Amino acid sequence: MDIRVERGDIAQQSADMIIVNLFEGVTSPGGGTGAVDAALDGAISQVINDGGCRGKPNEMTMIHTLGKLPSPRVLVAGLGKQEDFTLDKVRALAATAARYARRARCERIASITHGAGIAGLDPHDCAQAIAEGTVMGLYTFNRHKKPKEDDIEVQELVLVEFDQSRIAALQRGVHRGVVLGEAANAARDLSNEPGNVLTPTELAARAQALAADTGLECEVFDQPWMEEQGMGALLGVARGSDQPPKFIVLRYRGGGSSHLAYVGKGITFDTGGISIKPAAGMEEMKGDMSGGAAVIAAMGAIAKLKPKIDITAVIPATENMPGGRATKPGDVVRAMDGKSIEVINTDAEGRLILADALCYVQAAIDGGPDAIVDVATLTGAISIALGDVAMGAMTNDDALLGRLQRAAEEAGEKIWQLPMYEEYKDQIKSDVADMKNVGGRNAGSITAAFFLKEFVDDTPWVHIDMAGVDFYEKVKGVTVKGASGIPVRTLVHLAFILANEPLEA
Ligand code: BES
Ligand code: MN
Ligand code: ZN
Repeated sequence: MDIRVERGDIAQQSADMIIVNLFEGVTSPGGGTGAVDAALDGAISQVINDGGCRGKPNEMTMIHTLGKLPSPRVLVAGLGKQEDFTLDKVRALAATAARYARRARCERIASITHGAGIAGLDPHDCAQAIAEGTVMGLYTFNRHKKPKEDDIEVQELVLVEFDQSRIAALQRGVHRGVVLGEAANAARDLSNEPGNVLTPTELAARAQALAADTGLECEVFDQPWMEEQGMGALLGVARGSDQPPKFIVLRYRGGGSSHLAYVGKGITFDTGGISIKPAAGMEEMKGDMSGGAAVIAAMGAIAKLKPKIDITAVIPATENMPGGRATKPGDVVRAMDGKSIEVINTDAEGRLILADALCYVQAAIDGGPDAIVDVATLTGAISIALGDVAMGAMTNDDALLGRLQRAAEEAGEKIWQLPMYEEYKDQIKSDVADMKNVGGRNAGSITAAFFLKEFVDDTPWVHIDMAGVDFYEKVKGVTVKGASGIPVRTLVHLAFILANEPLEA
């Protein structure tokens, strides 16, 4: 779809539907909504006075213009209370309004810039939020379904702005928002794809295609290379599968003084291996590469938006299957740095493949990375702790986590810190190896993070456990059914924050 900015009067705009807005409690609207109200001889005010429209959050009221305006329909989108209004609400409102327009079969829509009027939010940021919300809110994953005959797609959104001096900022905002929204949708596409389609080989091919499109460097390594590198933990997981594992490396060179490393879990299907999962809900495990998908998609957006920072991203990709050669409980494997691991539960495979990826990314960057962020659907325990509202974050460096939290806030994605008290580490002590891969039921997300920490030297590092937020059953705001596209936008914002404010050496 095309999103653009035009100078003009929203009331005179020709579209299938024009979108204006209303704060709760307002009885005689001003700004763009007021202009449309006047052109309709007070129809909006009248609907308000009749109680048909109250400006409640996400309330959508459609008014037919019956020849009074160039556009046949006006949608009055409720903004809620003015004092509660934020960019997150702008984003969600744009998503809800766009879906309303699609249901109303409107292909060409036009809107005022929600939030940039009496709410007083920054026009650039509002335009970005509207573009992000629209692109993400309209997302569908239909590639394996027969198309429905009377379905339409929204083709065009025009942000109509009266004030010429705002146009350039709105255009910049729209561009950024489209890139970010499309990146989130690209991650959703990867996560929603079934496991028989999105094998490790296919994930690597898609990463390569993205790299070719955006000018990223991409290398994909095969099993013999993993053997040379001594990646026994990753290979131990891959053993149970007939699909060849892939190790994907993406590089972005934006210059600047910092080198950031992103690591994403790329389990294209997690059966649990020999410690096999129950049948109910196992199909969800096609999304066990959501961390890798987020990293790949974020790198694509970064290549387009060009922050001044270098980034190396690695995605270890394999299935976790219970084949005849699969790793068994009690087996001992050795990671790239020589540490031995007793595999107590083959379903704790994410930390095994991440261990080798963490070793590799530190060795592969000259002088080592300045910061490492890994992203993984790592533990069911994180959903018990935080539900589907927030990701969990565990770190050895509060300054890095602080920047990540700001990035998440900017994206409207939530992240909550769990503690790394040394006492938890005892839970992963092994009698036969340097560590074991599970630490029992208690504090399962934290002991997983302690396992990963064993493979990180003193580099500032944050581990993001996104297992609770990788997909949703409900449509709400920018969220649609299926893969969430979290935390793509957070990762892009973090690159900009670290480019502008490198961590102290
Ligand atoms: N991929 C799962 C975690 C997961 C669970 C992601 C639910 C999304 C939704 C991970 O590989 C796993 O199986 N973790 C185990 C670890 C346990 C064996 C220590 C878990 O959480 O049960
Ligand atoms: Mn597992
Ligand atoms: Zn897993």
